[in-house]
Amino acid sequence: MRLSSVLAGAAIFLVPSSSALNILMNNDDGFGSGNLRETYRLLKEEGHNVWIVAPATKQSGQGGRSEFTTEANLTAPSQYDLIPAGEPSIGSDPHDSHIWYYNGTPAACTFVALDYVLPRFADFKVPDLVVTGPNYGTNLGPFVWTLSGTAGAAYAATHRSVPAIAVSASNKEIPYFDIHNETNPATWAAEVSVKVIKAFIDSVPEGGPILPLGYGATVNLPELTGDDSELEYVQTRMTGSAHVNEAVLDPEKGTFTWENIKPYAAGVNTCVNGNCAMEGETHAVENGAVSISVYTVDYTAPSTRNTKNIMERLKPLAGWK
Ligand SMILES: *[C@@H]1O[C@H](CO)[C@@H](O)[C@H](O)[C@H]1NC(C)=O
Ligand SMILES: *[C@@H]1O[C@H](CO)[C@@H](O)[C@H](O)[C@H]1NC(C)=O
Repeated sequence: MRLSSVLAGAAIFLVPSSSALNILMNNDDGFGSGNLRETYRLLKEEGHNVWIVAPATKQSGQGGRSEFTTEANLTAPSQYDLIPAGEPSIGSDPHDSHIWYYNGTPAACTFVALDYVLPRFADFKVPDLVVTGPNYGTNLGPFVWTLSGTAGAAYAATHRSVPAIAVSASNKEIPYFDIHNETNPATWAAEVSVKVIKAFIDSVPEGGPILPLGYGATVNLPELTGDDSELEYVQTRMTGSAHVNEAVLDPEKGTFTWENIKPYAAGVNTCVNGNCAMEGETHAVENGAVSISVYTVDYTAPSTRNTKNIMERLKPLAGWK
C-alpha cells in the first residue's frame, strides 16, 4: 500500500489507509544524534518504513543553506568518528543500511535524500512525510526558525512538495551509542515527538495529504521528565514573546557575542498572519508546554491595507494603474 511510490513525481501525497508510511528523517545535529536515532527507532516500532539521511557532522545554524561538498571523500572523520576520513562523502551507517550520512548542510541532505538515496536505494522514491530532529535545543520564534538547520531541512522538503514536521527538544547532546535504556532525555523527546507525529498521521482525512502543499509544522518540546502524562499540547503561532539577537561587544577582546534582546523586539513579534490571539510558541514552551505551530513557505505578505499601501507608493515607478 505505498501509494506515494505509484505516484512518484506527482505533487500529490496520499496516505495509505494502513497508515504505514514512508518517512524520511534528517536533522542538523548529525546522523549520530541520540534524539534522531531514538525517534527513528520508535517510528519503526509504529510500523513505518523509515530512512535517515542526515549530515555527517554537526550542522547547526545553517538554516536553509544548501551546500554540497566538493570532496568525493571525507577529509575528516564524521561525527563521533563513526566514519573515518577517506571514506566517501556519502554512505550508509555500517550497522544499518537505512541510515545514511552526507557531508553537506541539512537542506542539502534533504535534496540528496530525495534525488539520490531514496530513488536508488529505498523501495520508494518520494516519502509521505519528512521529520527533522528532534533538535538538541528548541527553535522558537521567526528569527531562530530561519537560522535552524533542523528547520531548514524541513522547509526544504516543503519546497519540494513533501509534507514536513520539524521537531526541536530542550535536551542537550546525547550520542546514540550512549543510550542503554529508555530512561534518558533523548528517548523521552522521541516518545513525545512520535506522539505528535502520530496525531498528524492518524487525523489525515481519507485520501488526503498529511499536510497541504506549501504547509509544514514546527513542534517544540519543553524539558521532559519521562512522565509525559500531564504534558500540555498547545496550538501556537511563531510570533509572540519571540527572541531575536542583539550584538554585544566585549571591549577587552574587541569581539562580539549575541544575547537575546530585551525587552522583546516588536518586529519579530508582529502578528501578520494567522490568529493573533493564539499564544506564541516561545511563551508556551518556556511555560512547560509542547508548542505546535503551522508554517507556510509563502513568505509574500498577505493582501492587507499595509501591503496595498506599500504597493500604491510604487505606482509611479512603472506607471501601474
Ligand atoms: C576516495 O576514496 C576512494 C577509496 O575509498 C578512492 O578510490 C578514491 O580515489 C578517492 N577519491 C578521491 C577524489 O580522493
Ligand atoms: C539507564 O542508563 C543510565 C546510563 O547508562 C544509567 O545511569 C541509569 O542507571 C540507567 N537506568 C535504568 C533505569 O536502568
